[in-house]
Amino acid sequence: MKLDIPYMLEHLTLEEKAGLCSGKDQWFTKAVERLGLPSIMVSDGPHGLRTQKEKVNGQYIGSIKSVCFPTGCALACSYDRDLMHHVGNDLGKEARAEGVQTLLGPAVNIKRSPLCGRNFEYLGEDPYQVGEMASSYVKGVQEEHVGVSLKHFAANSQEFRRMSIDEHIDERTLREIYLAAFEKVVKEAKPWTLMCSYNQINGAYSSENPWLLTKVLRDDWGFDGVVMSDWGAVNRRVPALRAGLELEMPSSGGVNDRKIVAAVKDGSLSMEVLDRAVRRLLEWIQKGVEDTSHAPYDKEADHEDARKASCACAVLLRNEHSLLPLPSFDGVLFVGPFAKKPRFQGGGSSHINNFKLTSAIDAAPGVTYLPGMGDDSETRDEKRLEEAVSASSSAKAVVVFAGLPETWESEGYDRATLSLPPCQDELIAKLVEKNKNIIVVLHHGSSVTMPWRNDVASILDMYLGGQAVGGATVDLLLGKVNPSGKLAETSPLRLEDTPCYLDYDKGQHDAYYGERVFVGYRWYDERKLPVQYPFGFGLSYTTFSLSSLSVSSKVFKEGDLLVVTLKVKNTGKKTGSEVVQLYVAPPKGLSVARPPKELKGFCKVFLQPGEEKEVTMTLDGRSFSYWDNGWRAEKGVYAIAVGPSSQELTLTASVTVEEKPRKLTITDATTIGDVLGSGYPYPAFEQFFKQMMRQMSATDGTLGSGEKAMREAMMMSLPLHAVCSFTNLDLDVLLKMLS
Ligand code: GLC
Repeated sequence: MKLDIPYMLEHLTLEEKAGLCSGKDQWFTKAVERLGLPSIMVSDGPHGLRTQKEKVNGQYIGSIKSVCFPTGCALACSYDRDLMHHVGNDLGKEARAEGVQTLLGPAVNIKRSPLCGRNFEYLGEDPYQVGEMASSYVKGVQEEHVGVSLKHFAANSQEFRRMSIDEHIDERTLREIYLAAFEKVVKEAKPWTLMCSYNQINGAYSSENPWLLTKVLRDDWGFDGVVMSDWGAVNRRVPALRAGLELEMPSSGGVNDRKIVAAVKDGSLSMEVLDRAVRRLLEWIQKGVEDTSHAPYDKEADHEDARKASCACAVLLRNEHSLLPLPSFDGVLFVGPFAKKPRFQGGGSSHINNFKLTSAIDAAPGVTYLPGMGDDSETRDEKRLEEAVSASSSAKAVVVFAGLPETWESEGYDRATLSLPPCQDELIAKLVEKNKNIIVVLHHGSSVTMPWRNDVASILDMYLGGQAVGGATVDLLLGKVNPSGKLAETSPLRLEDTPCYLDYDKGQHDAYYGERVFVGYRWYDERKLPVQYPFGFGLSYTTFSLSSLSVSSKVFKEGDLLVVTLKVKNTGKKTGSEVVQLYVAPPKGLSVARPPKELKGFCKVFLQPGEEKEVTMTLDGRSFSYWDNGWRAEKGVYAIAVGPSSQELTLTASVTVEEKPRKLTITDATTIGDVLGSGYPYPAFEQFFKQMMRQMSATDGTLGSGEKAMREAMMMSLPLHAVCSFTNLDLDVLLKMLS
């Protein structure tokens, strides 16, 4: 369908234009039949279609039967861009087939705390990895002529009071951590829409924040699509429209439409702002209706895709004496209700009415099973506990299915603890006393503490692996598939060690990001804090070696690209995939505090036993940069470190970053040291400074070495406005030297 957008813009009435800026109802935009403008449908995502079509008394109820893929927390662990792309393709086909024009996802908020109830939907703690994975997903969906809504823009880092909390974040932290994934996706995958978050950022609601929705999103990043609100996130409609929020969802029942009309009529809102929003909306609708063919999709085939995806996401955290893979389930005991009824998705708007569910027991018919606890996976049951413990002593191996019950984490509220239900920890502790071959399979949306981790033989982390997770678990336990996932979040030892422990969920109205850019592994690395399992960690049933690291140049200048190559070899006996990670470590003594290292590249490589492949990753200026009123790659010698985990970097190379001297932005706090250290030529100032030091050196003979050092230090940290106090020099003369 082709829309005549210029004609529509010319002939839409003011009331119709205002009406287009809010939904018709929960899931549809308004149509304007007289001009041939259709209504389009949006639907949650992000890991399946939560599409509502049925209404009772005008209210949507339930959702269609659809395919529940692994959730974001699991997909992220695959580190597989192609997989994310394929899942996006599947979801795009399903959406189009069901008449959905835009899928509400992916959710790319950074995991600031493992307590966040919504972490199961999010992709991790590192903005580079999140941005890469989300970009692949978005390309996959939009290739099927269905849009996405990149969410929640921005800093929706907690569920507690999410609709009002004020997130106090300095700009550098925002740019480098909480906005960076959005930026990458906007620039690399061009999402049709974004969804603004509920919360405030530094005192401004995201729905009406012009710095966020126009300066950053559109002026800096070049986005020209539609920003829709999260459901009920609009605070004041007219300021929101001015700020760059085109669509209020869901409908405001005409209340805010009338406010827009009144504002145009009283002159407080210009027609050009309204027309700008309407143009963007019409262009979005046009994209949505360009291809209305409803290619049928095959749910069973997508279920198999979900199973393969879940396999690729699984993280093998421990595998003592190579207990896994098991030769068969003969003599093996399955324990824990999740074996029968797996936890495979999260609660809230992303909850899928899955058409099918494969549990581990479904996939392993005949296996011996005992619950070991209450059916809800959180109630202690003495009889069942005893029964499982006594049965375990005669088993060849015991597979314990553990994890977070669905009420322990969800959209809408945050977790109270990092622990699993005590009955699960107790069960595992008792089992290891009876049998050394204990295998724990985990289902959860965010890090959990594992006090038994060094007592069990194996730990296979499935996260929330979608409706086929049971089949995937069995494929992995039996070695039909080799685990290849890596953690996309640090698994901390204690809640007290987490970066935002002192602040998280502690304020009723405000959150203060005192940890700044030190989120996730950046924090634990800088503080040298031990963790349960590090970011990027994951084992395999085979082994790999890395060699021959090389960089295309030892010097990096602005505008360069640096190509990093290395070889990866499968040195074991089983086919498998390795995720090679590349971290950049800045030099010491930069102008700002920077994390010890940051992920700036990764690639997943599939290898037969004995096979070796060369892999390449490319770095650009941003790979070395931090935010300082613009992106800055400060000069110095940087380390390029590669390895299979953030704490196992087996090869390193160094690169000297050169930097064009930058003219200083003079402020009241600019010091003599800043000027002389900038590398930028200020000949008059340098001349003046030499003369000043000559005059001062006349008294050098009377100073001890300590006093000389102190004087030197004080000179360097002397702000320009204070120089005239010591030299009777007019500040304006000094500033002219620096102009
Ligand atoms: C919810 C969620 C958002 C979802 C929307 C529509 O409140 O925050 O992710 O897409 O409402 O269900």
